[in-house]
Amino acid sequence: MLLGVNIDHVATLRNARGGSEPDVVQAAYICEQNGGTSITTHLREDRRHIKDEDVRTLIKTINTKLNLEMAMAEDIQKIALEIKPYSICLVPEKRQEITTEGGLDVAGQLEKVSSFIKPLLDAGIIVSLFIDPTAEQVQASAKTGAQFIEMHTGTYSEAFGTEKEEEAFNALKNSAKLAQELGLKVNAGHGLNYENVHRMHEIEGLYELNIGHSIISRAVFTGLPEAVKTMANLIK
Ligand code: PXP
Repeated sequence: MLLGVNIDHVATLRNARGGSEPDVVQAAYICEQNGGTSITTHLREDRRHIKDEDVRTLIKTINTKLNLEMAMAEDIQKIALEIKPYSICLVPEKRQEITTEGGLDVAGQLEKVSSFIKPLLDAGIIVSLFIDPTAEQVQASAKTGAQFIEMHTGTYSEAFGTEKEEEAFNALKNSAKLAQELGLKVNAGHGLNYENVHRMHEIEGLYELNIGHSIISRAVFTGLPEAVKTMANLIK
């Protein structure tokens, strides 16, 4: 399994003072040097953390792959087509949310999702759809032309250590199996941390985990190199 490190919260910290520290380019470099196999950033419509100039700089400076999380917004699609990240991950976005809540409803807007991702696919950008782990969403995703799904692990992460863990975990396991049977590659992420990530090994064929908050939080105490290295070793 590979580790995509989400560095959005390095930008959150930077923006708290409005200057240039901590530097997201340096953060990306440290992540890559310590086991991160891709760098993920979410260019939100309100630009609350990562900004346009960040993605324009990162695309030139990172040595691995840039995975751009984005909503179905035309202005962000335009930026994606301009900078051409290695991959994009389509996420739902609500202005007031603290972080991405729930997966994209692909089943409920199949035509809209398919036509939104077409220019991105035509430009050679790999497309992933961030969905809840249900058969309905997986089946719909397989009809869009996207190559990947990213399973939302938030419910599992919240249920970890409770009587609801098994049900949430099985939803991930079953969805990953179905997705691969339908020809999709499978990533996962959201809420994964140093305690709950180990069960991802029980899911066959998982390609990459995208992890942000727990790594950046740990980095405050241990430093970013240690935080990334420890996570990379846990998922290797
Ligand atoms: N994957 C997606 C699609 C996300 O939106 C996020 C949060 O930005 C993550 C993964 C990472 O989640 P976390 O910060 O909880 O590790």
